[in-house]
Amino acid sequence: MFLRRRATQAEYFDHPDRTASELRRHYEALNRINRRIRFERPFRVWIPELLGKAACGNLSLLDLGAADGLLGRELTAWAASRDWKWEFTNLDLCPVAAEMDPGPRHRTGSVLDLPFPDGSFDCVIASTMTHHLERDEDVVTHFREAARVARRLVLICDLHRNLPFLAGLWAYVGLAGEGRELRSDAVLSVRRGWRTDEWRRLVDAAGLAGARVWKEHGTRILMSLVK
Ligand SMILES: C[S@@+](CC[C@H](N)C(=O)[O-])C[C@H]1O[C@@H](n2cnc3c(N)ncnc32)[C@H](O)[C@@H]1O
Repeated sequence: MFLRRRATQAEYFDHPDRTASELRRHYEALNRINRRIRFERPFRVWIPELLGKAACGNLSLLDLGAADGLLGRELTAWAASRDWKWEFTNLDLCPVAAEMDPGPRHRTGSVLDLPFPDGSFDCVIASTMTHHLERDEDVVTHFREAARVARRLVLICDLHRNLPFLAGLWAYVGLAGEGRELRSDAVLSVRRGWRTDEWRRLVDAAGLAGARVWKEHGTRILMSLVK
């Protein structure tokens, strides 16, 4: 049945033939959509909820698959409006993302082998990055690596794989006037997305005792680990 299994075919913008200017345009389009859908919302809600507001005054955070770091900029500004100091380090595999990131702390590298010692950051987060991993064993490594470098919290958010969301996203990206490639990648992203039982199995395989997995608003899947 359609969507019963996740797709593993590569997204257009993950192909190694994409040029730097194509990737730049892609990241700009992604940022336009992310701003409209308020993609930082789950992190605004869940970081204070899971850590407690009193613990949020001063946090170091690592964003995995951060692209040009928009999520960190939005969350830093939001935290500052509450007199909280949140300091982001961004990590992404793509060197074009590093060139586009205006922030002071960006590392080019893989979520599968994080270039940081154990417990380097208060919080480790990721937004719509995990579905870019094809193999289950890589997702297990990604979860373990995130937990290794986190002192207090891991919060990972991705796309839930279901038909109403897929249709809605396809229509939304089309109505927003974005290009054909982005529209087809948006659909493929949902097809590469997850169900809660799949993440539960991968979290257990990673040995993350106490981790929680849940679905929100029919669109998102989240995993949290409070240490
Ligand atoms: C859909 S974008 C998400 C960007 C941003 N986090 C957001 O929420 O819009 C996925 C990003 O993950 C990066 N990525 C994919 N595989 C990765 C890996 N193994 N290690 C680090 N980054 C990776 C890609 O280069 C891309 O910038």
